[in-house]
Amino acid sequence: MFADTGKGMVTDMKKIPYKIYLEENEIPTHWYNLRAEMKNKPAPLLNPETLQPMTAEELKAVFCDELVTQELDDTNAYIPIPQEIQDFYKMYRPSPLVRAYCLEEKLQTPAKIYYKFEGNNTSGSHKLNSAIAQAYYAKKQGLKGVTTETGAGQWGTALSMACAYFGLDCLVYMVKVSYEQKPFRREVMRTYGATVTPSPSETTEIGRKILAEHPGTSGSLGCAISEAVEAEMGREGYRYVLGSVLNQVLLHQTVIGLEAKAALDKYEIVPDIIIGCAGGGSNLGGLISPFAGEMIRGERNYRIIGVEPASCPSFTRGVFAYDFCDTGKVCPLAKMYTLGSGFIPSANHAGGLRYHGMSPVLSQLYHDGIMEAVSVEQTSVFDAATQFARVEGILPAPESSHAIRVAIDEALKCKETGEEKTIVFGLTGTGYFDMVAYEKYNNGEMRDYVPADADLKPGLDGIPRFPGNEF
Ligand SMILES: Cc1ncc(COP(=O)(O)O)c(C=O)c1O
Repeated sequence: MFADTGKGMVTDMKKIPYKIYLEENEIPTHWYNLRAEMKNKPAPLLNPETLQPMTAEELKAVFCDELVTQELDDTNAYIPIPQEIQDFYKMYRPSPLVRAYCLEEKLQTPAKIYYKFEGNNTSGSHKLNSAIAQAYYAKKQGLKGVTTETGAGQWGTALSMACAYFGLDCLVYMVKVSYEQKPFRREVMRTYGATVTPSPSETTEIGRKILAEHPGTSGSLGCAISEAVEAEMGREGYRYVLGSVLNQVLLHQTVIGLEAKAALDKYEIVPDIIIGCAGGGSNLGGLISPFAGEMIRGERNYRIIGVEPASCPSFTRGVFAYDFCDTGKVCPLAKMYTLGSGFIPSANHAGGLRYHGMSPVLSQLYHDGIMEAVSVEQTSVFDAATQFARVEGILPAPESSHAIRVAIDEALKCKETGEEKTIVFGLTGTGYFDMVAYEKYNNGEMRDYVPADADLKPGLDGIPRFPGNEF
C-alpha cells in the first residue's frame, strides 16, 4: 500500500514510525500552567453579587481546596503531578502520537498529518486526565463525594471511573436528551458506581423551576451545571467538579500537549498547524499550551486553530464579556467568548461541543490573536469522520471529528499549493456511543443547523451588563 505512492512516504516511514510512543517514564511529572507566561492573564472569576473577584474562600464552598489553589495560580509555570495521579496515568498513558500515513495517502497530500489519540481508555476520551486529578484532590481532602453534570456523557463516564478508583460517591446530572438517547453510556457510569439523574430533574429547586418554565425541555449543559452545583451545596462533605472551561481543567489536560511536544521533539518534527475541537476548551487548551508558551516567549510561531460547531459558535460569533457559566446563574461570572448563558443550541450530535461559553484562557489567547477559530457544519464533520475511520481504523467521536474536518481541509489546501506543511490535531475520543448520530448520517437524515443572527440575539441580550462589561 505504501510502496507505490511515490510521495516520500517510504522514506518517511523509515524515519518516523506510524505511532510515536513515549516510554512510561516520559509521562509528564508536572502540569504546565500557561497562565504564568501569558502577558495578558485571563480575567478572574467574579462574584455575581458583588462583581468582585471570587476569593479563595468563596470558591472553596464549591470546589476542592487544592483545585481552588490551581484555579487561582497565575504565577507558577509548572505544578507537580502527585504520584498517585501519575500512577493512574500509567494505566492508559502515554497516549500515542500517530502519523496519519493512510489518510495522507488517501488525500494524496504532501502535508504530514499527526494526531494525538486520547481515546484509548474505557471512558473513551481525554476527560479522564482531569477526572482523576479532581477525584484525587477530593479524596485527599477527606470528602465523601462529588457532583457534576455531563452532556454527551464522556465527562460523567470519566469521573465515575475516577471516583470508583478512589472510593468516592459520584452524583451525575446528565442532560436529559443524552440520558434518553445514550442508555449505554449511562449504564457504564452506573457500573462504575455513579448515580445518574436526567436533567432538568425534580431533585433540585432550579430543576423544578426550569421544568415549570419549559415543560418537556430536553435539557442543556448550562442547566445540568446549575443542578449539580445546587446538589453539592445541600450536601455535607461534597464538592462540585467540572469537566471543562475552568483553568484547573485546562491545566490537567496539558499532559496531552506535553506528551505531544516530547514525541515531536524526539523526531525533530516542528508543526506548522495545530488543530483541536473546542467545547469548553479543555482538550484544545491542553494540547496547545506548550506550543502557545513558545509563541508567547517569541521562540516559535505556529498556526493554532480551534474548531467549533456552526450550531454553537462561541468563538466565531460570540462576544468577549463576563457571563454566567450556567443557565440557573448560580455559578461565578467568567470573562469568555460567549453566546449568552440563555442560549440553547439547536440539536447537534457533538453533545460535548454544545456549550455557550469558552475557557477564559483560550478566550484571552483568541482575543490576543495567538490562536484562530473556525466553525464547521455537522454533515461535513461526519464526512470527515467517515473518511478518517475508513483509512485510519479508529471510529472517532463526533466532537473529535471537528478537528479531523479542519485537518483534512488544511491538508487539501497543501495539495493545491504543493506545500509540505506539518499538521498536528487532537483526536480526543472514540465514537462507539454515538452510533445514533452515525446512523442518521448513514441514512442521509442528518441536517445542518446554522443559527441566524436573530436566533443568537436573545442569548446575547441576556449577557449581564455592568460598568466594565461593555461589548
Ligand atoms: C470526545 C470529546 N472531545 C471533545 C470534547 C470537548 O470538550 P473540551 O472542549 O473541554 O475538550 C468533549 C466534551 O464532552 C468530548 O467528549
